[in-house]
Amino acid sequence: MAAEKWVYMVTAQTPTNIAVIKYWGKRDEVRILPVNDSISVTLDPDHLCTVTTVAVSPSFDRDRMWLNGKEISLSGSRYQNCLREIRGRAGDVEDKEKGVKIEKKDWEKLHLHIASHNNFPTAAGLASSAAGFACLVFSLAKLMNVDEDASHLSAIARQGSGSACRSLFGGFVKWEMGSKEDGSDSVAVQLADEKHWNDLVIIIAVVSSRQKETSSTSGMRESVETSLLLQHRAKEVVPKRTLQMEEAIKNRDFASFTQLSCADSNQFHAVCLDTSPPIFYMNDTSHRIISLVEKWNRSEGTPQVAYTFDAGPNAVLIARNRKVAVQLLQGLLYYFPPKSETDMKSYVVGDNSILKEAGLDGANSVENLQPPPEIKDNIGSQDQKGEVSYFICTKPGRGPVVLPDQTQALLDPETGLPK
Ligand code: DP6
Repeated sequence: MAAEKWVYMVTAQTPTNIAVIKYWGKRDEVRILPVNDSISVTLDPDHLCTVTTVAVSPSFDRDRMWLNGKEISLSGSRYQNCLREIRGRAGDVEDKEKGVKIEKKDWEKLHLHIASHNNFPTAAGLASSAAGFACLVFSLAKLMNVDEDASHLSAIARQGSGSACRSLFGGFVKWEMGSKEDGSDSVAVQLADEKHWNDLVIIIAVVSSRQKETSSTSGMRESVETSLLLQHRAKEVVPKRTLQMEEAIKNRDFASFTQLSCADSNQFHAVCLDTSPPIFYMNDTSHRIISLVEKWNRSEGTPQVAYTFDAGPNAVLIARNRKVAVQLLQGLLYYFPPKSETDMKSYVVGDNSILKEAGLDGANSVENLQPPPEIKDNIGSQDQKGEVSYFICTKPGRGPVVLPDQTQALLDPETGLPK
């Protein structure tokens, strides 16, 4: 390795994911091994993703990381575990053009700079750690020429944050809990890619919340310690439900998909209530959205929209197709209109071409919305202004990719510092 001043770097983009069969509870806190399998849908990274640039240079004197522009400490065990695991698998790297030659053994001595950015506000309470750790591990694996497949990498990302292992794949993903003590068989596998079921449209309602939520990590620890329902769920419910969900995804069976997703979300929140002291993640707005969807599904006779809620009040709504998504958005905006000064394009983000389809791109279009006929008398009228901060319209999406365009790098190619 020549002691020159080169900076060698890689930039990657990784999606976030939403669980439809939830991971809640660890059997090993250090290795992050779960008490049950889980299944997720990867969300389109064009709308929700993390971009990470990792760089190596003989001129760096220590490992450093910047998250959304602010330097953060890498001393936590989750970062250290990921860095150690990935360094241990590093290979030889040579880039003649840049004069870079790194041998396998050099990686132990070389330091890294890491810059990571989420394309959605961290304050929105959307699982940023999943995309973040997946992106860290994926980009480092590319930088260090690690010769491992995505499932092996998922077992490393898992040690950063459990749900991160599922972000190593696009489409529909299962995290197999595994049974080995060392966690080597606790990995993510792809059930189907994003094209398999591409009618689905996902609308996320980012629900305003004043209270600071219990973190997933401590919440699930308390559930493991105190909830009998969690034991029952892990042993009796999830194993069967996982198989049914795999079938539903394979057959694009939306009715089963909805029934299983909603039941699993509700059971996860029931486990939270069964925890001592109880944990409340959903709020009144979340409950109102559930009633709206339940009533609509019932009135249609067959399910049109699935809902699922993670460790917070945000609703993730999965519509069976675009036409249903348009109706769903109209219903949502009728009940949860923006504050009067809010521009529609900042109230519905992501794929906001849906606004035009829903006739919601003009002035006063929300005021002119009619109440959805099947639910009008039950939910209350348009007095929920401000309860939803904004909506994100998206769809199932692809897995991690390297971004070869240097202009997308978050670190300066000369100095290796944030741009
Ligand atoms: C409710 O992956 O954030 O989103 O492994 O402690 O980092 P740690 O927890 P995390 O938990 C996610 C919990 C969930 C359900 C899920 O994504 O499966």
